[in-house]
Amino acid sequence: MIILGIESTAHTFGAGIVKDEPEYILADVRAKYVPEKGGIHPREASLYFMREAPRVVTEAMQIAGLSINDVDGIAVALGPGMGPCLRVGATVARALSVYFNKPLIPVNHAVAHIEIGKLITGAKDPLIVYLSGGNTIIAAFVAGRYRIFGETLDMPLGNFMDTFVREVGLAPPYVVKGVHQLDRCAEESKEKKILNLPYVVKGQDVSFSGLLTAALRLVRSGKAKLEDVCYTVREIAYSAIIEVSERGLAHTGKKEVLLVGGVAASGVLRSKFEAMAASRGIDVKVVPPKYAGDNGVMIAWTGLLAFKHGITVEPERAYVRQRWKLDQVDVPWGDP
Ligand code: FE2
Repeated sequence: MIILGIESTAHTFGAGIVKDEPEYILADVRAKYVPEKGGIHPREASLYFMREAPRVVTEAMQIAGLSINDVDGIAVALGPGMGPCLRVGATVARALSVYFNKPLIPVNHAVAHIEIGKLITGAKDPLIVYLSGGNTIIAAFVAGRYRIFGETLDMPLGNFMDTFVREVGLAPPYVVKGVHQLDRCAEESKEKKILNLPYVVKGQDVSFSGLLTAALRLVRSGKAKLEDVCYTVREIAYSAIIEVSERGLAHTGKKEVLLVGGVAASGVLRSKFEAMAASRGIDVKVVPPKYAGDNGVMIAWTGLLAFKHGITVEPERAYVRQRWKLDQVDVPWGDP
């Protein structure tokens, strides 16, 4: 079985092609929208996607050495994400499905981050820590779905980190040679001591907006060195994630942790998870950087799993869902 997957939820338009074992990944082509300044502007990103989509899909087919006739189904990320961006991917996928008479498979972007993580790391039944620009979720598979055990009450971790470094003049670019500017700046702190900034964990949930406001105020007051504020901000933000993850492990009894999403690439965060996991005698698995960010392969792979369980959607009913939550998706293939 061969599936073409299309991703367009945020900054990346991606086309991936996968098949069943043993070689899963046949092609992975991405076009990433990088704003000149500020955050992602959804309409600008969608215009960029429209220009890039034909090239990305054609190149993926060429790399796989296939024609669209060889494909068994077309998977598309219908949400969650930014409306204008989602609509480009959905339009391309619906058009291909109708024109070439191929089944259309709806995929939830969050589920796809988890499934590619499980595929590549071999995690079977982990506590999932999904950290990206748009999401901060602690989840685990229970009774047919990925249930949410904790999340952010306001900003996702990645958005928080990006906003902080942008506001203090360290970005863009946000990530240089695989290291986020916040981690980079924090390493320059000589004293490495925690300044007085708010640490907010409420039950199972985290919150970063108060930390952002207070940290920016401290930087602008000139009362602390930027690198010392970076260090404090990073330690507080990561520690909050570790705390809710550890509680998630205690609640669910899961024996492994899987880190997925773009922020999972942070080496510092990973080492904190490893320290926590060692004390509990559990394994930590991290999706490799290549597949931590958004890509078409994860959509194709999740589409393949779904299609094997008969999940398809009529093209005229394939609406985008900007707020399609992880725990609204049935996962009939998820039993470990
Ligand atoms: Fe993502």
